[in-house]
Amino acid sequence: MKRIGLLTSGGDCQALNAAMRGVVKGLSENVDELEVYGFHNGYKGLIYGDYRLLTSRDFSGILTKGGTILGSSRQPFKLMRVPDENGLDKVEAMKQTYHKLNLNCLVILGGNGTQKTANLLREEGLNIIHLPKTIDNDIYGTDVTFGFQSAINIATDAIDCIHTTAASHNRVFIVEVMGHKVGWLTLYAGIAGGADIILLPEIPYDIKKVVEAIEKRSKAGKGFTILAVAEGAISKEDAKLSKKEYKNKVAERKFPSVSYEIADQIQKAGGTEVRVTVPGHTQRGGSPCPYDRVLCTRLGAAAAKAIMDEDYGCMIAMVNGETKRVPLKDVAGKLKMVEPDCQMIKEAKRIGISFGD
Ligand code: F6P
Repeated sequence: MKRIGLLTSGGDCQALNAAMRGVVKGLSENVDELEVYGFHNGYKGLIYGDYRLLTSRDFSGILTKGGTILGSSRQPFKLMRVPDENGLDKVEAMKQTYHKLNLNCLVILGGNGTQKTANLLREEGLNIIHLPKTIDNDIYGTDVTFGFQSAINIATDAIDCIHTTAASHNRVFIVEVMGHKVGWLTLYAGIAGGADIILLPEIPYDIKKVVEAIEKRSKAGKGFTILAVAEGAISKEDAKLSKKEYKNKVAERKFPSVSYEIADQIQKAGGTEVRVTVPGHTQRGGSPCPYDRVLCTRLGAAAAKAIMDEDYGCMIAMVNGETKRVPLKDVAGKLKMVEPDCQMIKEAKRIGISFGD
């Protein structure tokens, strides 16, 4: 008999269900008796004992289904040690739920913050397996996270659609891409969508260089310019500020996001008409792309194998095309960022893409 718990935490993404399906199918092949408990709405379900017993039927027909059948929520890691409004010790409560159900292990699907809490639970003695989920692709220790590829497709579609209208009106267009503090999604979607300028958090921009790049295209007879701007893009000037100073500046910003600020600056500098498009949460929505379905099926099956081997305390990563068990203690709290002088950036620059630096 194996008793496992499943939970999905943090922002959702397209292939969470596919990953859980992989885990459960992988285990069903190996154990006669299996009990799977699904915790509702991420760590909240584990803290407050909100769960349901799942059957194989719950995992049937969900390979292509976006979102998560368990629901998700954000439970910041920094508040995990802070008692809730009723004085409840969240970490103790999670441990109690785990022990009450007599779980062999807990499979946790989530991004960076989720991973930190997963590691905390490991330190507290629970058997944990983490699966790397996020459209941001910023989890250290894995080449790729699930959701990333599906989100690239959506962000690229958005840029593709902008292309025809930008060309018709001879305008400058900004497409703002998600990614939190990293630029992976913007970099891939920007290149795939043929963006002329790509602005990433890892390469602070100089607005003068951005305007120069637009003018250069205009002089070359190109009537329009498309910018792919990461939601976390930052100017050279702002990059010099302390974390606190920058946070205060953003709080006082009169624009809804960095893209609108950049649009305003470009308009003021050149009198060019600029339009901003924000695909926002559409990037996390819909059905997982085939790549993510395969990735999650493999990660899920590899997690099942780790459970059979009773090898816990790890993230199931994808490294050089192979699934790999990476110790959580080695990766929790680390961020995988775009290297400003990596080959991909150099190649993008070689074909004339400006990074505003
Ligand atoms: O981490 C995934 C992500 O979609 C980020 O790209 C984005 O910054 C954030 O979540 C948005 O969070 P929320 O769904 O809480 O608005």
